[in-house]
Amino acid sequence: MSVPQFSTRIMNTSGNVIREVLKLAEQSHIISFAGGFPSPNSFPVTQVNEIINELLQKSGPEILQYGSSEGFPAFREYLAAWLTGQGITATPDEVLITSGAQQVIDYMAKAFLNPGDGVIVENPTYLAALNVFKSYEAEIIPINGDANGVNLVELEKAAASGKAKMVYLVPTFANPTGVTTPVESRKKIVEILDKYGLIMLEDDPYSRLRYSGNPLPAVKSFDKTGNVVYTSSFSKLISPGMRVGYVTARHDILRKLVLGKQCTDVHTNNIGQRVVFEFCRRGILEPHIEKIIAQYKKQRDLMLDMCKQHLPAETTWNVPEGGLFLWLTLPGGINTTDLLPIAIEREKVAFIPGKPFFADGSGENSMRLNFSNASPEGIAEGMKRLGGVIKEILKNK
Ligand SMILES: Cc1ncc(COP(=O)(O)O)c(C=O)c1O
Repeated sequence: MSVPQFSTRIMNTSGNVIREVLKLAEQSHIISFAGGFPSPNSFPVTQVNEIINELLQKSGPEILQYGSSEGFPAFREYLAAWLTGQGITATPDEVLITSGAQQVIDYMAKAFLNPGDGVIVENPTYLAALNVFKSYEAEIIPINGDANGVNLVELEKAAASGKAKMVYLVPTFANPTGVTTPVESRKKIVEILDKYGLIMLEDDPYSRLRYSGNPLPAVKSFDKTGNVVYTSSFSKLISPGMRVGYVTARHDILRKLVLGKQCTDVHTNNIGQRVVFEFCRRGILEPHIEKIIAQYKKQRDLMLDMCKQHLPAETTWNVPEGGLFLWLTLPGGINTTDLLPIAIEREKVAFIPGKPFFADGSGENSMRLNFSNASPEGIAEGMKRLGGVIKEILKNK
């Protein structure tokens, strides 16, 4: 058998470590803090069932047919008004419905990046975005961040270098660090984009999951030139299995994203779009979000308590105001990639090692813990096991 000649782009793309780990963590006896999964208890199964039945009865042939690439028109109208209400001025034809926010990252890369083009990202950042940029043979330019988000001096320096074409940021409850960029920095980011003529993708799947503090305006809300493209998703609010997200962008950019979509999947699943639209239109979404916020806040607080109780001294972690993750830095040179198989096989507890989130290959002693997917009992037990194995390794070092 001859060896297949794979493309450079796919050879550049490392397997998504999260998905590989999830295969192990999916076993029912494993307590998983690994994926960014919403709680299975949060899924509105009854309401989705009712809506689907009604939709099939009233509009069956229509929703089982092909639809337009841009998305269901009434849903685009709804989202444009909803975004405008949040300070992100958008017309319906500046909104594209997508199969999740992940697809928007791909379309942005497809629309803007030639091999070797630079993408500025925060170090660390969402690892599946790094994989997309690598798959388009982009040069990733990592810049450091801290508790206030991306370092603006480094951002300006990277922008001024002339190597970058695009900036990718998760300014609210970042994955993996949970950090939120303050308002003043958001304004400054837009100034830098405009000064150097850069496009930015603002990836915002988590901002509605806020447990404390006040909501902040999106970076996009300060954008006067259309250099910021904004994406969000219903994955963490209703269901990731539905695969419904959206993007709003300046008209010329949106047209290119639509071309990308036509090559990939023609249009977003009609049933998913229509269910999510009904969820919004009927006023079910807001009370549903309130319910999951109350649940996740408890789970976040419990996991924070468990960190205090079980993790060795000198471990540090963030207290995120929202989102789904705690971000830990371990003491004593513990390598979390080496720790993972021991934690899974021996302690039956899973997490995501920090290293793959770092474009510069650092972060060996960090880890991301998800607090939304495990039950309260699972959080208490899993953190006890995790703390135990970390302490044991430290003792034997
Ligand atoms: C920062 C970030 N962007 C995008 C996504 C993809 O979400 P979706 O399910 O909408 O594709 C995720 C999912 O975890 C995420 O954390």
